[in-house]
Amino acid sequence: MQQDQLYIDLGLSENQYSKEVIAGQQVYTSSFLRVYDLIVLHIISRWLWRCPPQNMVDLYNKYLSGNHLDIGVGTGYLLQKAKFPVEKPSISVMDLNPNSLIESKRRLAGIAGQLNAYRANILEPIQTKEKFDSIGMSFLFHCVPGAIRKKASVAFQNLLKIRKPEGVIFGATGLHDLGQTHLLSRKGMKNLNRKGVFHNTEDTLPDLEAALKENFKDYELYVIGAIAFFAGKKAK
Ligand SMILES: C[S@@+](CC[C@H](N)C(=O)[O-])C[C@H]1O[C@@H](n2cnc3c(N)ncnc32)[C@H](O)[C@@H]1O
Repeated sequence: MQQDQLYIDLGLSENQYSKEVIAGQQVYTSSFLRVYDLIVLHIISRWLWRCPPQNMVDLYNKYLSGNHLDIGVGTGYLLQKAKFPVEKPSISVMDLNPNSLIESKRRLAGIAGQLNAYRANILEPIQTKEKFDSIGMSFLFHCVPGAIRKKASVAFQNLLKIRKPEGVIFGATGLHDLGQTHLLSRKGMKNLNRKGVFHNTEDTLPDLEAALKENFKDYELYVIGAIAFFAGKKAK
C-alpha cells in the first residue's frame, strides 16, 4: 500500500524543516516504536522521571472526548489504554513522523469508529477539514525546538484554530527545571538534548504557566516527578 493512502500530508517536505525539528522526530523509527512503550513510558518515565504512565492515562481519561485529535501520537499507547466516553470514538492521529502515524493507526483500528491520520508539524499552522472536542499531546513539547514560553504559545495558537470553542487542549511534558533532582534524570536529559532528541533545556514550569495564561482564561497545571501536566480550556 502506498504511504499517501495511509495519511493526509499537511506538512512540508523533510528538507524544508530545520535540523532541530527533524532531529526531534527522527528517532521514532518503526523498530524504536516497537520498544518505545517499554523503554520510554515504563522505564524512563517511571524510574528516571518518577512519573508512571498511569498518570498520563489518568489525564487522558479525564479529558478525552468522542471526537479526539492526538498530536505527537507516537505508538498510540495512551489512546489504547485510556477510556473514551463513547463506544466508537472518532480519533485523528497527527505526527510529523509517518512511522508514528502507521503504528498508532494499526493499534487504534479496533477502537475507533472513524480513524484519520495527518502528517503535520505542531509549530506550523494546521488546517484540517474537521474541528475537535479534545486535543491531546503527551511528551511532545520536550521534543520540539525552542523555549517553552514561545513553542507552547505557537502550538496552542495553531491548535485553537482546529479545536471547537468548548473543547480542551491537554498534555504532558518533561520540564528541565523539574528533571534535575535525580542524577540519572539529569544525565539522561543532558544526553538526549545533546543528541537533539530532546529540546527542553529552556523549558521551565513558570514559562509553561505563562504560555497557558497567555492563551487560556481557564487552565489546569500540575506536576508529577519531572513531568508537567496541563489542560487549556476557555480560550482568551
Ligand atoms: C516522545 S513521543 C510521544 C509519544 C506519545 N504521545 C507518548 O506520550 O508516549 C513524541 C512524538 O512526537 C512526534 N513529533 C516530534 N516532533 C514533532 C513535531 N514538530 N510535530 C509533530 N509531531 C512531532 C514524534 O514523531 C513522536 O511520535
